[in-house]
Amino acid sequence: MDRIAQLIAAMTLEEKIGQLTMASGGYAVTGPEVSADVSGDVRAGRVGALLNLWGAEAVRAIQRTAVAESRLGIPLLIGLDVLHGHRIIFPIPLGEACAFDPELWAATARAAAAEAARDGVSMVFAPMLDVARDPRWGRISEGAGEDPFVVGEFARAKVRGFQGEDLALPDAVAATAKHFCAYGAALAGRDYASADVSERTLREVYLPPFAAAIEAGCAAVMPAFMDLSGIPMTAHHALLRGWLRGERGFEGVIVSDYNAIAELLRHGVAENLCEAAALALAAGVDIDMMSDGFRNGLPLALAEGRVSMEDINAGVRRVLTLKQRLGLFDDAFRRKGGGDGREPAKAAAVSARELARAAAQRSIVVLTNDGVLPLPAGLGKIAVIGPLADARREMDGPWAMAADRDDCVTILEGLKGALPGTEIVFAEGVAIDGEEESGIAAALEICRGADVVLLCLGEAAAMSGEAASRAGLGLPGRQEALAWAAFSLGKPVVALLSSGRPLTLPWLFERASAAVATWFLGTEAGNAIADVLTGRFNPVGRLPVTWPRAVGQIPIFYAARPSGRPFDPIDPYTSKYLDCSVEPQFYFGHGLSYGRFALSNLAALQQCVGFDDVIRLSVDVVNEGSIEGEATVFCFARDVVASVVRPVLELKRFAKIALGAGERDVLDFAFPAAELSFPGLDLQPRFEPGAFEFSVGFTADPKELMTIRLLAVAGI
Ligand code: NOJ
Repeated sequence: MDRIAQLIAAMTLEEKIGQLTMASGGYAVTGPEVSADVSGDVRAGRVGALLNLWGAEAVRAIQRTAVAESRLGIPLLIGLDVLHGHRIIFPIPLGEACAFDPELWAATARAAAAEAARDGVSMVFAPMLDVARDPRWGRISEGAGEDPFVVGEFARAKVRGFQGEDLALPDAVAATAKHFCAYGAALAGRDYASADVSERTLREVYLPPFAAAIEAGCAAVMPAFMDLSGIPMTAHHALLRGWLRGERGFEGVIVSDYNAIAELLRHGVAENLCEAAALALAAGVDIDMMSDGFRNGLPLALAEGRVSMEDINAGVRRVLTLKQRLGLFDDAFRRKGGGDGREPAKAAAVSARELARAAAQRSIVVLTNDGVLPLPAGLGKIAVIGPLADARREMDGPWAMAADRDDCVTILEGLKGALPGTEIVFAEGVAIDGEEESGIAAALEICRGADVVLLCLGEAAAMSGEAASRAGLGLPGRQEALAWAAFSLGKPVVALLSSGRPLTLPWLFERASAAVATWFLGTEAGNAIADVLTGRFNPVGRLPVTWPRAVGQIPIFYAARPSGRPFDPIDPYTSKYLDCSVEPQFYFGHGLSYGRFALSNLAALQQCVGFDDVIRLSVDVVNEGSIEGEATVFCFARDVVASVVRPVLELKRFAKIALGAGERDVLDFAFPAAELSFPGLDLQPRFEPGAFEFSVGFTADPKELMTIRLLAVAGI
C-alpha cells in the first residue's frame, strides 16, 4: 500500500471530508462568508486547506498545528489569489496580455510564485482563463482578453511559471485554471449571471484555453460560479467529469469557487446542503471552498446512498496526491525562503521589481498619437492633472492583497524622477468618482504656461475585478468635465487611462493629442509610464481585446461569424447600427509604436497542405521609422467555404520582431495544418479540404491585412 492509500485507510469519515474542505485563514476577505478561528478544526483534522493566509510565520504556525497536533499529521494546502504578483505587483493580466510575450508571462508568474511560496503559499488561484468579450464584465481585467489562442498561450506560460520545473521545489506553487468555463459570457456582462453558450462556441472558444492549461500540467481547476445553459458549473457532470477528466484526462484537483456549493441552493438545483454536496462531488469537485457544504452535507449524502465512499476516497486521494507532489509530506515547511529568508528575498525583490518595470513598460498601449509623444527633451513645464495621477493605492488594480501599496510608484512620481530638469506641477481637479467639480478651476490654473498637459483619468482599482461590472463604460464621476476643461486650453493634452477594461470614450480619442492605455500596471506603474512618455522605452503593447466605441456594440470581437448581409454603406439592408459605426474604436492588435513598420512579400512554402503537414508562411517586416522598435505580427486563417459558418478571421499565431531603424527581416510562421480543423456539423473535429485564406497584419482590421490562399487537401 502506498503512503496515500495507508492514510486513506486510517482516516475517519470526518477526516476524509476535512481533506476536502478549504476554510479561510482570515487575512483577506474575498467572498461573502468568513471562517471563525480555524486552528481547532485544523487540529481535529476537519480542515485540509486554507485560503487567504500568507506570511512565513503565520503559515508555519498553522502548518505546525496540522502536522504536529492533528491525529494523522497531514499538512495543509495554503491557497491564495496571486493573479498578477504577490508582494511586488505586475500589471493586471489584461495589461500584461498586451505584451504578447509568453516568456514575459511565464517570468512574472515565476517571480510571483517564488514570492508567494516564501510566504508559505502552496497553491494559487490563477491563471484566470476566461475568454472575455464584454468589457462591462469587471473580470475582463483578470484574463488575457478575447481570443482563445492568446488565452491558451497565456495559460501555458502561466502554468509553466507558477509550477516551475517540479512542484516539489520550494519556490513552486500549484496553479489553478479558472473559472471553468464560459464565465466570461455572463449575461449582459453582469458578474455571477447565467451564461448561455452553444456547444460549438464552447468547443471553439471557451474550452481551448483550459485544454492548453491541462496539457501544460496545471495542478488544479476551479469551476465557475454561474450556470452554463441551465447547469451550474459547480455541478456540471458533463463538463467536469466528462470533458475535463474523461476527454482531457485531467487527474488534478477540482476546487470549488468560494461558497459555490452552497450557492447551488440559490441556483435552485438543490434543496439542501446534502443535495448540493452530493451534486458537486458527483460532478467531480474535490475541494469545497468556504461553503461547509461537504462537511455538513456529505455524511448524510453518504448515509442516503447519494454518494459513495469510493467517490469520497477518490477526492481525498487527489488532494493528498497534490500535497505529495508539492513535497508537503516530506517537509511541510519548505515554502519559507532560503536560510533565514533575508538575503535571497532581498535580491529576489530587486530583480522582481526590475521585472515589474519591464512588464509594465510592455503592457502600455499607445492608442492615438498625433506626434506629441514621445515628449521632447527639455520641456519647461508639464501640468499633470486628474485623479489617477498620484493615486498610489489604485495603481495595483484588483487582486493585490499581499501588496505593500505604499510601495507603488505613482505617475506623478515616475515623471518627476524621469524629468528632473522640468517643472512638473500637479492638481487632482476631480476625484475618481462623485459629483464635486470645484477643483477643476485650480487644475486649469496650474496648466498656465505648461508645454503639455497630462490628463490622468480612469477607474478606481475596485471598479474592475470580481463583482465589479459596469453598465456604462465612460469615465466615472466628473472626470469628463475635467477633460473638456483641459481641452479648452488649446494645449497639447495627453490622456493617460488607468482602467481594468477598455473605456468607451470616442470624444476623448478624437480630441486628445495622444491617448495611452495604462491599465493597472502595479508596483512600477509610474516609472514605466514615464519611460514610455519620454521615449526611453519605445512602446510595444498591442490590444488583446477589441476596443468598442459604444456599450451598444458589446459583445464585440474580431473573430465573429460573417453575416449573409455584411455591412455595406450603400445598402441599407445590411448588418449595422443606425446610430453608431459597426467598426470598433480600436481593432484587436492595435497599438502604436514611435517607429513605423511595414509588411510585404507574404509567401507560403506550399500551395497545398494535407492534415499532417506543417503550414509555413513568411513575410518581410521593415522598420521604416528612425528608431529601434518591436513589431507584433498576427497570422489569421479563414476557411473560405466550409460545412458550417467559420469566423471571418481566426488567430493562428502571433510573433514579435525587434528591428533597428531601417532594418528589414523575414518573419516565419509555422503551424500544423491539423489546427485548421473545427467542430463540424456533428461537433466532432473536422479537417475539410478546400480553400483557406491566411492573412497577416499588425491588427485584425481586415482593411490592413495581406492575404494569400492555400488549398487544404485530404489524404496527403
Ligand atoms: C471568488 C473568485 O471568483 C475566485 O476567482 C477566487 O479565486 C476566490 N473567490 C477565492 O478568493
